Amino acid sequence: MAMTKASPHSGDGLAVRLRGVSKSFYGVRANDSVDFDLAWGEVHTLLGENGAGKSTLCSILAGLYRPDSGEFLFDGEPQAFKTPKDAFAAGIGMVYQHFRLVANLTVAENLALGHGDLGVRISQKDLEARAAALGERYGLPVDPSALVWQLSVGEQQRVEILKLLYRDARVLILDEPTAVLTPQEAEQLFKTMRQMAAEGRSVIFVSHKLHEVIAVSDRVTVLRAGKSVGAVATADASPKDLARMMVGRDLELPTREARDSYGDAVLAVKNMSVLGDRGNEAVHDVSFEVRSGEVVGVAGVSGNGQRELAYGLVGLRPPTAGTVLLDGDDVTATSVLDHIEKGFAYVPQSRLGMGLGPGLTTEDNLGLKAFRNPPFSIGPWLKAAAFKEQGATLIDRYDIRGVRPGLPIRLLSGGNLQKALIAREVTLEPKVLIARSPTRGLDVGATEAVRNHVLSERDRGTAVLLISEDLDELLALSDRLVVMFDGRIVGEMPAEDATAENLGLLMGGTVSEAG
Ligand SMILES: Nc1ncnc2c1ncn2[C@@H]1O[C@H](COP(=O)(O)OP(=O)(O)OP(=O)(O)O)[C@@H](O)[C@H]1O
Ligand SMILES: [Mg+2]
Repeated sequence: MAMTKASPHSGDGLAVRLRGVSKSFYGVRANDSVDFDLAWGEVHTLLGENGAGKSTLCSILAGLYRPDSGEFLFDGEPQAFKTPKDAFAAGIGMVYQHFRLVANLTVAENLALGHGDLGVRISQKDLEARAAALGERYGLPVDPSALVWQLSVGEQQRVEILKLLYRDARVLILDEPTAVLTPQEAEQLFKTMRQMAAEGRSVIFVSHKLHEVIAVSDRVTVLRAGKSVGAVATADASPKDLARMMVGRDLELPTREARDSYGDAVLAVKNMSVLGDRGNEAVHDVSFEVRSGEVVGVAGVSGNGQRELAYGLVGLRPPTAGTVLLDGDDVTATSVLDHIEKGFAYVPQSRLGMGLGPGLTTEDNLGLKAFRNPPFSIGPWLKAAAFKEQGATLIDRYDIRGVRPGLPIRLLSGGNLQKALIAREVTLEPKVLIARSPTRGLDVGATEAVRNHVLSERDRGTAVLLISEDLDELLALSDRLVVMFDGRIVGEMPAEDATAENLGLLMGGTVSEAG
């Protein structure tokens, strides 16, 4: 079984050496003559704005894409991987931004998949024992006999990483792994990453969270518009320095300005309960209000009912008890379409699954919710020109990058997808905006833009419900905070009283003494 230390190294002493690597898609240079050095035993961050070319570069290293030109040495040897299998066989493995596990196999079966072990008919028991031992050793606990679809995203990610370690990968590429993790899970992952580096493996890490980057990595290579602008040791860098290298200007993330009065309650939720996927009661007897011009933040560790709360509010899953009022109007049992027409806007967490039509163009996606009304349709006719015009305006205003006429939106980078989603929702001038982790996966510049959009909705008088696991963001934007734990609201406080500590305690299920 593959549990040896990473093997000794040869050649130039580097794990990976890239010189002048370029890759274009439909005429866009995703990577433009990139130089990159990865040492053995280091954690090396790739940093850059949304669309800067990070995932593309990772995918070249992992054999998914072949570079158009340039030199690629792995352990001193020139490489021309044809497929991810070739790269994996050589010792380079990647955990993609969007996972690729087989959902109806067990964890252990997923680990062995493609390894040949299934062919020699290793017993299920042996397989599970190996998986458990490996998980233990690297601080990546998973139940080896669980089916993958039953796992949380955090657990699925652990399986993805274990899959690489099972094959004794010497270079592990983690593309935005922490975007889907709770702060506690991220902490544990950082320990695992350091352990892998201490064993002589190399880890490539992609993240937009600058404090994480500095905490976990030895060096950072910055990409800007497909070009490498240089590498720095994190010991010499501050978050501010990194942000400046990345976007070429100084950035200050916006925060709300306190205000002493709010409008009337626009959204009023009374004793609402909503079922979860397995028929359990995921939201239990929840009551709260959001007033006009107010941001109410919902804090909580993911999986405590936030998703079902949002579903219940926007009509995706009718509540089993309680009422939802919009401006005093009962909307509890109405359809999603009714919700939209009455003034609900929703920014979901999963962009391609629920928010956007992956196969449609960006322009069509931007018009998707307004298409029933003029100027997009007149009588039964859809007006293509109006879609185009609206699309162009929003693409410009929301700085959505990488759009190519006629091509599907799914080709945009992750961060730009999120910008498109927000653009579409906010342009409807909603009365209530419900946003789940709206800046997850966004670069600092885009985060700045999205935060400004949320705050300008607040100033316009929209009632904003911000559901997030990012405490910094909740504290920066919310006028009032509620904490969800186990489907209930276990605490509520004005922004002035909220700190990361007291929120964290409530999120962990510790009810404060004050109640
Ligand atoms: N398969 C593809 N087909 C067409 N265009 C692509 C493809 N993959 C990437 N691109 C384009 O290449 C550019 C770089 O994308 P990439 O996904 O590498 O960015 P990124 O730095 O990972 O961004 P993010 O932080 O948003 O994940 C973008 O303009 C993107 O739209
Ligand atoms: Mg990416």
